[in-house]
Amino acid sequence: MIEVLSTQDYDKVVKLGKILHEDFSISNISPYEIIIVYKSGDEICGFLQYRKLYETLDIVNIVVDEKYRRQKIGTKLVNYVFDMKDATHFMLEVRSTNENALEFYKHLGFSEIRKIKNYYGIEDAISMERKTL
Ligand SMILES: CC(C)(COP(=O)(O)OP(=O)(O)OC[C@H]1O[C@@H](n2cnc3c(N)ncnc32)[C@H](O)[C@@H]1OP(=O)(O)O)[C@@H](O)C(=O)NCCC(=O)NCCS
Repeated sequence: MIEVLSTQDYDKVVKLGKILHEDFSISNISPYEIIIVYKSGDEICGFLQYRKLYETLDIVNIVVDEKYRRQKIGTKLVNYVFDMKDATHFMLEVRSTNENALEFYKHLGFSEIRKIKNYYGIEDAISMERKTL
């Protein structure tokens, strides 16, 4: 089941977010950003953080708990934002070394648009987009 993150699940999401980067926190996310979670009972299997401005939706972070990977939970989270009313242009940045995530996003119809040098300190990012119009 996919729902918007509620306060009782903050700690679980922060724990998952730390897989991505050690300083991941919910308290410092922008008021324009929303986190959706995929739950199985009380368990948080994964989350997706996004921001939307008019027709453009930026995927900021997505993480699926290691024990639930390759079960299409990531796909369901991304499809949830693909289905959002008015969103036709999807953007994201991913570490150039994160080959699994690059494969995942390509599988979902994203294409690489450019490399951004040193976007993550000493690591480059790949910008990706998907348009539905
Ligand atoms: C990337 C991530 C979110 C994918 O979630 P997931 O639920 O395992 O992905 P899905 O099961 O929906 O995968 C859909 C398709 O994407 C591709 N894919 C997913 N993970 C992959 C991997 N590790 N290697 C290669 N391709 C992969 C495959 O084509 C897969 O289809 P298949 O399993 O039928 O071959 C998950 O691996 C993750 O949390 N990684 C760590 C965090 C991260 O890197 N996030 C992205 C940067 S913000």
